[in-house]
Amino acid sequence: MMRSIAMLDLKAEFNVFADEIREAVDGVLTSQQFVGGPAVAALEKTMCERVGVADAVAVSSGTDALLCTMMALGIGAGDEVIVPTFTFFATAGSVWRLGARPVFVDIDPKTFNVDPRSIEAAITPKTKAIVAVHLFGQCAEMDAINSIAVEHGLKVIEDAAQAIGAKYHGRSACALGDVACLSFYPTKNLGGFGEGGMIMSNDRTFIDVARQLRNHGQSGTYIHERVGGNFRLDTMKAAILLVKQRHLDEFTERRRAHAAIYDAQLANSCVDTPQVGEHQEMVYHQYSILTDRRDALCDRLRERGVGCGVYYPLPLHLQPCFASLGYKKGSLPVAEDTCERIMSLPCHPMMNDSDVKFVVDCIDEFHGASTCSHEPRADTARSH
Ligand SMILES: Cc1ncc(COP(=O)(O)O)c(C=O)c1O
Repeated sequence: MMRSIAMLDLKAEFNVFADEIREAVDGVLTSQQFVGGPAVAALEKTMCERVGVADAVAVSSGTDALLCTMMALGIGAGDEVIVPTFTFFATAGSVWRLGARPVFVDIDPKTFNVDPRSIEAAITPKTKAIVAVHLFGQCAEMDAINSIAVEHGLKVIEDAAQAIGAKYHGRSACALGDVACLSFYPTKNLGGFGEGGMIMSNDRTFIDVARQLRNHGQSGTYIHERVGGNFRLDTMKAAILLVKQRHLDEFTERRRAHAAIYDAQLANSCVDTPQVGEHQEMVYHQYSILTDRRDALCDRLRERGVGCGVYYPLPLHLQPCFASLGYKKGSLPVAEDTCERIMSLPCHPMMNDSDVKFVVDCIDEFHGASTCSHEPRADTARSH
């Protein structure tokens, strides 16, 4: 039988904690409370303790976390929000939905995260906030971003959808900006059983506003102080996430161990492996490599039963829905080049060392005896 190594194996993960989850679900069924309630409050508290942030509002998705955050910050028509062009759509879609303008900036070719120098160049009197996305599980350069924000009086929103558990200079993602947004989408490192997300901040006044907005801006029963939305999280999902988060650190360590094997074994191959700064602890939501033969390598891996993904094939500034913003091909060249050469390898907690080595063998076999034009990108140190 052909070996099969998928990008994720949620069925195998479920087997690890099936009994605990069934018990938690049973508790919710018995309570017959399905929205909000003690499980949601407990999840908020647990996540705050985990990352070292004062308060949190659990919401219906990572997208709604971003949207509700921007609503609570008062972002709207006439405002600009700086967003990396190389990220998932939701980061920018939320800005647009509020009538504000996403101002796209380029990325650092080594980390795929936003380049702080391009942020500085994009600031105008209309800029209200910067979204710092911690892409693939590595934190953006928050020291530089925060100092730009302080200098210009801007808010920093961490989009930590892919980075729960990541650390930057020893501090946790979600505790690095003014406010952080998480996603519990099933494929995330802490994935729920359905949609879910969270807003986290040390600013309790902001959190109070976000909490109100989550429930149609109600300050009392049927008294609406603001226009919010239905951004509430289901009780069942919170109860399940409370169980799953107990296994998060162990799962993260497994991802990091796989990444270490990939790093070592692909060091002299024809592909560029991810670059992780000494001050970073990356959680490898994705293990993304760069190669000039991306599509052919992906096809070959799939033929051999190995999953692979392309995150992301088109930068946001070139998306059809943002055409009216006037960006052209060539506007943000690092991200554009990355979109053509990037691909992600399986790096999930249920793989074992031999699976990782098999993926490496498939990559080596694909390149065969061919010599690569490739020079290893040696300038950023790694740490795991
Ligand atoms: C960087 C980033 N931001 C935001 C989101 C949106 O999260 P959700 O899918 O939970 O709405 C995601 C998830 O795909 C993401 O990867």
